[in-house]
Parts: sequence; structure tokens; C-alpha cells
Amino acid sequence: MYLSMKGITKIYPNGVIANDGVDFEVEKGEIHALMGENGAGKSTLVKTLFGTHKIDSGQVLFDGQDITNISSGDAIKLGIGMVHQHFMLVESLKVYENVVIGMEPTQYGLVDNATAIKLVTDISNKYNLHVDAKATVRNLSVGMKQKVEIIKVLARGAKLLILDEPTAVLTPQETDELFEQLLLLKKQGITIIFISHKIKEVKYICDRLTVLRGGKYIGVMDVKNATENEISNYMVGREVILKVNKPKPKFGKEILTVQNLTYQDANHIEQVKRVSFSVREGQIMGIAGVEGNGQNELVECLFGLLNKASGKVMFDGNDISQDSIRGIRDKHMSFIPEDRLKTGAASGMSIWGNLVSDRIDSDMYKKNKLLDIKQIKALATELRRDFNILSKNIEQPVGMLSGGNMQKVVVAREMSSSPKLLIANQPTRGIDVGANEFIWKKIIELRNEGKAVILVSADLNEILELSDSILVMHKGEIAGYFEDSSEVEEKELGLYMLGLKKQKGE
Ligand SMILES: Nc1ncnc2c1ncn2[C@@H]1O[C@H](COP(=O)(O)OP(=O)(O)OP(=O)(O)O)[C@@H](O)[C@H]1O
Ligand SMILES: [Mg+2]
Repeated sequence: MYLSMKGITKIYPNGVIANDGVDFEVEKGEIHALMGENGAGKSTLVKTLFGTHKIDSGQVLFDGQDITNISSGDAIKLGIGMVHQHFMLVESLKVYENVVIGMEPTQYGLVDNATAIKLVTDISNKYNLHVDAKATVRNLSVGMKQKVEIIKVLARGAKLLILDEPTAVLTPQETDELFEQLLLLKKQGITIIFISHKIKEVKYICDRLTVLRGGKYIGVMDVKNATENEISNYMVGREVILKVNKPKPKFGKEILTVQNLTYQDANHIEQVKRVSFSVREGQIMGIAGVEGNGQNELVECLFGLLNKASGKVMFDGNDISQDSIRGIRDKHMSFIPEDRLKTGAASGMSIWGNLVSDRIDSDMYKKNKLLDIKQIKALATELRRDFNILSKNIEQPVGMLSGGNMQKVVVAREMSSSPKLLIANQPTRGIDVGANEFIWKKIIELRNEGKAVILVSADLNEILELSDSILVMHKGEIAGYFEDSSEVEEKELGLYMLGLKKQKGE
């Protein structure tokens, strides 16, 4: 066996057993999926392989060598490379500078740029990656940045490539491209470990899959013999239906009206350009777009997180253009931010503290002017159960949860605050199929109750399944609007997202 991890146990300092005697085997030249619910221990397992974390017991053999508890530096030397979901590139540097960081070729004591450029170009050509070595990273699309990460790993001689949720931020076109490249890498003898919650992707690209649940090894199977249902059953231990049953929409009055909204960033670049649209009660308005085309800035302006340069926002009959976040929240707008660590949650604070932080001022939770901690904790306990937040208890700090479980804390808080409009920015990114099904149901429930929803998502399947109407953003503008989402298809939306198609503005 090429890679053999046997009886891996990893206990974090707080006592959480993230991997409990896990067995994981990968054959040379295969693409092997690692799957499982949020908190199942996937990231932990690959981090122990890559040397980020030390294991408490078990053994790791790679290519005939015992590599148990080696350092990351040694892992790289042995040909193990990892692409993290959150890119680790220096935005202001050029592609080739990023690729050779820490291993710069030198000539006469100076960094040899020509050699670095040639290295990048050669790898790019060999694997059909089409990356421009001299481009500045900041100007690249998300898909391109990911390719640079892959080149960076390949430049260090990786023979075993670990990808932790690589497709979460890609368009369908970019995902297809990535898959072609991964298949090419496989052909050239590179072995790949692929972590994903998306069963369709795993079916398409992987040879075998290993499932973890609750830190334990559940089993391994050949992908071609497994149906999508079997895979999700295996992961969650029950049947998951990732299709929503949506009654026809019943639109009520206009709840949000946005007129000519423009946002300029610190460099006076217009990230949102004269955007106008409205949302009605009972309507799910999907906003599609490649990351970085103004979707985030737009919704952050609506919620008062960013100051717009000009434009007007009316919400539930009030002009909220100048309101603070607090003022906007009090009018019952909720917000699930894209970056749950930066703006969504306080990582040092307890789960219960995070779950109620938005409503702690409300009289409902006070007894004789003092916080009614008992009642607050009862609510938090209920939300933890409803949203299936995997943790030891509600006292645990949010920072120690797995990526998906942190997300669930934020989603639970925002959905339970009786919003008239919920803005959900990537609500299911990194969420497992079971929790995904639950969050979709909750969004539909809100909409059926006559609440409005703005859904920003890079996952086009999610946009198409949930939205009643769809806006597509490209370079800060609305490139397309589809009043009835059932009249447009995924590939077509992709064309608008990439700027290859555009509707005429009014
Ligand atoms: N640094 C840490 N300290 C303490 N506990 C941690 C730490 N990192 C992860 N955990 C815990 O270990 C368990 C496994 O987490 P891990 O991140 O490996 O899950 P995962 O399968 O990658 O989940 P996800 O799909 O949500 O990314 C979780 O219960 C999590 O709370
Ligand atoms: Mg993870």
C-alpha cells in the first residue's frame, strides 16, 4: 500500500477525540475521496498526515517509510503536498514569486527570476494549467489562484496531493477544468486525496472513497459501485434528500428596494456599480456570481457593514441608507456572513454566547433588568439540538469546532431571530449533506411564511434549487436578471458569471 494510516488516534488538548483509531489506505495513482459529516475528523486526519498535528497513537507508512509524526517540512521533502481551502498566497506578489517562496532559486546570491518563471511555465504547460507566471496574484480569479496553489505544491515535487474542499469556491466551468487537470495529474502518476461534501463530484472524479463518522473509520468503497444515496447514507447514517419541495411562490409587498447603490473600496475602485433591484415578501432572490464580483460588498452595504458611496436602500417602509448595523438588525434584517470567523462568530466565546449575542439586549431575556442566563442557556441548548451542532456542550468555545459546525452556530442564530429579510451569504459552504438538507428546508420554511431571503452562493446548484428569482453579478454590475428562475439553466448562468453574456441595462 502506498499510504497506510493505521489506528490513528488524535486527541486535541481540550479532550476532543477527533480521530479514534482511524484506518485510511490510499493506493498509488488513485484519486481517493475522504468524506463524512462536519466534525467527522477529515481535516484533522490529513493534518496529521501532513505533519501539522501530532497523533497520540497509530502509525503512518508512506511509500515504504514510517513517517509517523514527521514535521510538515519533512512531509514536503517526501513529496506530500497540501492545498488548504483558504488560500495562502501573497496577493501583492507575482505568481512565480508565490510559487518559489521559501525555495527561491538563486544565482550569485540573487533570486533568479528567470529560472522561477521557467519553473512555473513548465509545470503549467505539463499539466495544462494555463497560468501566467508573471501575473499578480491579486488580479487572478479564484479558480486561477487555486491553480497557483497546485503549482506551488507540484513545484515542491509533490507525489501525493491533498485537497481539502477544493471546489467550494469554484464556478461549474472552473470545477470542470480543475477535474480535467486532476485527471491529468493522475495519469502522470500523482496520487490525490480529495475531501469534499459534494457527492456528485466524488462520483465523477474519484476511484474510491473512505467515510469517517464521529471520528471513527466507517468503511471504504469503490465509487463506481456506489449510488449517491448509498454514499450519503454511509456518511450520515440515514437517507438524505437534497431536493427541495417548493410550493409556488406567493409574493407579498416589496420589502427591500435598492436604488443605484454604488460602493467604492479604499482604493476608490467601484466594487458595486449603480445596482438597483427589489425583493418581495415570500421571495428568495438568488445572487449568483464568481467570487469577487461585488456580491459580498453589495450585501455588506445592505446590512450596514460597509459604507456605500451613493444610493438608497428602503427596507420595510424605512429608509435605512444611513442606519447602523444595530438599527438594521432591530428592524428585523438578519445576516449570515460569508466569513464566519471574521464577522460571524467570536471564536473565544462559548457556543451559547455566540448563539444569543444578537438578542442579548432584548427584554425577553431579562429578569429584573438582569440577564436571565437560565432562559438564554435553555434557548441555546434548543438551537444546538435543532441545528445538530457537534460539540461537547454549549460552554465550549466556538473556535474549537470543525469548520462546518462553526457555520451551523451562525446559521442557527440568524435564522432563529425572526427576520423579515434574511441575507444568507454562502449559507451551506463546507456544510455536510445532512445539515445542508436541514438549512435548505429552513430557508424554504422562512420563505413560505412570507419572509424574504437574499441568497448569495457560489454553488449554482444551490442557487437554482432554492431561488425564485436570480440576479447574476459580474464586475460589480447586474449582468443578468431572471424573474423566474426555472427559465434558466446552470451553464447559461455560468456564461453570465464569466462575463461572456450580458443583458442590456434599463
Ligand atoms: N484546534 C482544535 N482544538 C480542539 N478541537 C478541535 C480543533 N480542531 C478541530 N477540533 C474538533 O475535532 C473534531 C473534528 O474536526 P475536523 O475539523 O477534523 O472535522 P472535519 O471532518 O474536517 O469537519 P468539517 O466538514 O466541518 O470541516 C471536531 O469535533 C472539532 O470540534
Ligand atoms: Mg474540515
